[in-house]
Amino acid sequence: MNAPLMDPAAVLRRAERLPRYTSYPTANHFTPEVTAQDYAAWLSLLPAGAALSLYLHVPFCDSLCWYCACSTKATKRYAPITAYLERLEAEIAEVAARVPADHQVRHLHWGGGSPDILSAADIRRVGAALARAFRIAPDAEFAIEVDPRLMTAEKAQSLVDVGVNRISIGVQDFEPAVQQAIGRMQSFAVTRDAIGLFRARGVRSINMDLVYGLPHQTEATLMRTLEQVLDLSPDRIALFGYAHLPQRAHNQRLIDEAALPGALARYAMSQKLAQALKQAGYAQRGIDHFARSDDALATAPLNRNFQGYTTDAVEHLIGLGASAIGKLPQGYVQNAVGAREYMEAIDSGELATARGFALTDDDRLRAFVIERLMCDFAVSTDAVRDAFGARAADHVQGEIEAVLAEDPDGVVARTPDGLQMTERGRPFVRSICARFDAHLSPEPGVARHSMAI
Ligand SMILES: C[S@@+](CC[C@H](N)C(=O)[O-])C[C@H]1O[C@@H](n2cnc3c(N)ncnc32)[C@H](O)[C@@H]1O
Ligand code: SF4
Repeated sequence: MNAPLMDPAAVLRRAERLPRYTSYPTANHFTPEVTAQDYAAWLSLLPAGAALSLYLHVPFCDSLCWYCACSTKATKRYAPITAYLERLEAEIAEVAARVPADHQVRHLHWGGGSPDILSAADIRRVGAALARAFRIAPDAEFAIEVDPRLMTAEKAQSLVDVGVNRISIGVQDFEPAVQQAIGRMQSFAVTRDAIGLFRARGVRSINMDLVYGLPHQTEATLMRTLEQVLDLSPDRIALFGYAHLPQRAHNQRLIDEAALPGALARYAMSQKLAQALKQAGYAQRGIDHFARSDDALATAPLNRNFQGYTTDAVEHLIGLGASAIGKLPQGYVQNAVGAREYMEAIDSGELATARGFALTDDDRLRAFVIERLMCDFAVSTDAVRDAFGARAADHVQGEIEAVLAEDPDGVVARTPDGLQMTERGRPFVRSICARFDAHLSPEPGVARHSMAI
């Protein structure tokens, strides 16, 4: 059955700029008050046998796509990558020396940028550095983001040899007019062949990234792209709404704003795509992920992290590389964002932490509520009571009552132990998360957040 559509006035009312809540508090609240010394102290307090997730950032691409909001740089020369990898190896050794000897790494993620810009030899080198420094579980989940235009058989083999078992492929859109308008030309054949290289080597988990809200997209063009995507039968699809923040991502100034779909068109596109994906047998998970019924993400309990949605419930996230974010029980840490600043920090013999956020009990409670909303579209005060005690549950119940009392668009409903998003309200869950966000402030000047639809 089709989800009931929201009326246009309500959509426009809710088309606010809001965080994507990949963390709470969101990264714009990180401050330099959290230092490398704090991070060192937090690492030293990791419990014996700690389960770890590693995120490793490669901030380089062959060319910069105009829409891209990732932390990356274009380079045609390999020397900057070689210089960066030297520091990355140093950081891997430095951080690993500070975690308990009997830790276990259960999840690895190489992101970027385009980690497959590394040569096959360097992929092996970084893989070996990680395997030397950390105790990686034999069945660890090991994911990597790849630009299919850079993939070769040799690189695919080296990735599989170092243990990669999940691939996330950037596609965005197959329509030539859209590709022209976003500065990213990528044929169907290149995408199909990159996927084939991994499937031929036994990799069974393939994700494809798509974006709606790009210039010149219409429902008809997106359905054509989707048809081609479905021909490749990915296990997962991430369907992101285009985040247009040209004041922060200067490359986005190349995008013709007059060709961008407005809020109502974005809403209609996202609804149409979600419907078509469900008809094709994909389960929607959270706001923007879809999983084939035989994929773990289709049914497993969901968590939210900086990469989006994951089945990874690990408490301890270690970020490696420029701009990488880590999360420990005490709070968040982020490495120096620019590759040069990051390399200088590592050369000075320090950890590369540039900023972070020390969590209070109130932050932890709100982070829990917001993560459950983003993942389950519901908050249970019973679950809050189990995790944080009776007083916290009463407090959250009070805030839930306020949200329920002011709901002109029918986006939330009462449940026996809390609140849930209605079917029509789900696409607008970020606006309900914002009601539980004690750090959110109005946005004067430069917009920080993207349109919440
Ligand atoms: C690191 S890239 C993926 C790997 C590789 N670099 C590539 O593009 O093929 C991460 C993904 O973020 C998404 N993305 C980047 N900029 C975005 C934006 N402004 N709005 C929404 N999604 C965006 C794209 O779907 C992209 O595939
Ligand atoms: S979308 Fe991917 S390939 Fe394009 S600039 Fe961003 S990180 Fe690089």
